[in-house]
Formats: sequence, structure tokens, C-alpha cells
Amino acid sequence: QLNSLAVAAGLKYFGTAVGESAVSSDSAYMAIVNNKNELGQLVAENGQKWDATEPSRGTFSYTQGDIVPKVAKANGQYLRCHTLVWYSQLPNWVSSGSWTRATLQSVIETHISNVMGHYIGQCYAWDVVNEAIADDGTWRDSVFYKTFGTDYLALAFNAAKKADANTKLYYNDYNLEYNGAKTDRAVELVGIVKKAGAPIDGVGFQGHLIVGSTPSRSSLTTVLKRFTALNVEVAYTELDIRHSSLPASASALVTQGNDFASVVGSCVDTTGCVGVTVWGFTDKYSWVPNTFSGAGDALIYDKNFAKKAAWTSISSVLAAK
Ligand code: G3I
Repeated sequence: QLNSLAVAAGLKYFGTAVGESAVSSDSAYMAIVNNKNELGQLVAENGQKWDATEPSRGTFSYTQGDIVPKVAKANGQYLRCHTLVWYSQLPNWVSSGSWTRATLQSVIETHISNVMGHYIGQCYAWDVVNEAIADDGTWRDSVFYKTFGTDYLALAFNAAKKADANTKLYYNDYNLEYNGAKTDRAVELVGIVKKAGAPIDGVGFQGHLIVGSTPSRSSLTTVLKRFTALNVEVAYTELDIRHSSLPASASALVTQGNDFASVVGSCVDTTGCVGVTVWGFTDKYSWVPNTFSGAGDALIYDKNFAKKAAWTSISSVLAAK
């Protein structure tokens, strides 16, 4: 079972995102979620985001956010917590507010101290800042960047440390896997935060990848090591590898398995890569088809909860360590 194999291979966990609505509605899904030998770590797919936790200024709600942490706690699984400062799923009152540095700083600090305070002691790691870089390597033009330039990065990490000194503080982003301009900027980001004297413990590689276009195991390892060389840990935090067109052929399913093996293998090969989290485990539920029309089946169990070639490839690469 994947988490047991991952731990034996030297990782802390193999885990998954869990969609809040499936927790109460799908017992076959939950039978796999509740199996700690298979999934040793959970993360809430949506419930801890800003629009759910602080829908209007100063009004905090944890009804959605508590669903997945409660499951992880009952099962003794690690919990990753996601996410505090992100341009998306950000309520309008934040994204469209007219802010000065002082007023937006207070809003960010209030948000972080309330949300992290609510989950104190429960999170192995927090994605403090999510997706601050655009795909071309420029800084993402969010309300945060517009107001502060890059100064909001250190501000957020400092506020996070103050709210919970015992969780790993992560920067989390996608398309860092290709070692291009965006990756270079993420390396710079770690330096900016550290230079400002703020704490950063980890970089999350989301790993939203494409079957047949996933970098090789050794290329991925090279990228991970650029970050561990900066004294931060790394993890794959939202792994899925989508087929560009469906249905997937038998050979495409094999390629998908090889691609998953490259990703998981690169984590095994990197001291300081702590774990792999898939962004859902069954093709029954995934954000992919809603965003990439015609694409999908990006996960390791099929819609009927049968293990795919990807599952077997991951288990082999973990067992080989
Ligand atoms: O809950 C409402 C429901 O009440 C409503 O009827 C329905 C109609 O659209 O929408 C539901 O909310 C949706 C929510 O997922 C829950 O299913 C939102 O519209 C939809 O936008 C939201 O999508 C999420 C997406 O983030 C938003 O940016 C995906 O589930 C989630 O998987 C995805 O996750 C992100 C990570 O947080 C960050 N990295 C990228 C990753 C994939 O996009």
C-alpha cells in the first residue's frame, strides 16, 4: 500500500487531497481515504481557502475547513494545510478592495492569525503563499503584488510564524517542474524571503502535469535539488498527470504510469523531499475536466476505484528503494 511503501522508502508520507463534499456522500471513496497504509496524509481541497474561511471581513467560518482535518485526526494521518495568501478563491472584498499597504497588511495578518490559530497544532505544513509567479516567470499581478510588490511575501511568512511556530511554512506553485523562467523566479523568491529575515521551510511542487510531457526522473531530481540546496525542504503537493484527450489508450495509461514513477522517483532520489500528495486519487472526482476541456483521468484509481497502471508504477518505484 502506497503510504507504507513511501515510508519504507524514506518519505514521510504518500497522501491525497480530499474533496469536502465526498466526505459525507461517498463511502467507497472514504474507505480508501481512511486507510492510513494507503494514504498517510490529507489536505482539504477547498475548505481552508480564504473565500471559505473569511468570506467577509472579520467573519471567520470553519464549517468547510474542518471537514478534512477531522478525518485526518481520526485516522492519525498527517495534515497539510492549504492555503493562506492566494490570488484565487479570494473573496471580492479582498481582491477588489482599495488598500494602502497598512490596511492590506492588517487584513493579511488578521486572516493568517485567525486561520492558523484555529488549526494550531494540527498542520504538518501550511501553504502560506500560493502561486505568486506567472507562467512566464514574471510576478503574478495580484492585489497583493499591486499593493506591496514582493514585500508581501516576507510579511506573510512572518505573520505565519507568529501564528504557529511549529508548522512548516511553504511556498507552493505549479509548473516549477520544467526548470524554466518560473523555476528561476521561485528560487529568487526563497532568497527574497530569507534576505528579509523571514522564515520559509519548504517549497511545494504542485505537479499538475501532462501524460507524455512530464520531465524525466533525473530532470525532476535536478529541479528539486536546486531548492534543497537553499536549505528548504520540498514536496509534491498536488500531483496529477492528465491525458490531453480521452478515452486514454492502453499505451497512454502505461505512459501515465511511467510519468507518475518519474515524479515519485525524483522525490525518493532527493534528500529533503518529504512526500508526495496526489490532488485526489480517483478519476471519479477531479478539477481537471472543468479547467481543461476534453482532458482528464489524471489520477491513480479509475472512476470505479480500481487501481490503474499508475498505481502499480508508483508502488514499484517505492518498493525498489
Ligand atoms: O461549492 C460550490 C458549489 O456550491 C457550486 O454549486 C458549484 C458550482 O460551480 O461550485 C462549487 O465550488 C467549486 C469548488 O471547486 C468546489 O467544487 C468552485 O466553483 C470551483 O472553482 C472550485 O474549484 C477548485 C479550484 O481549485 C479553484 O481554483 C477545485 O475544486 C480545486 O481542486 C482547485 O485546486 C487548486 C489548488 O487549490 C491550487 N493549485 C491548483 C489546483 C487546481 O486548480
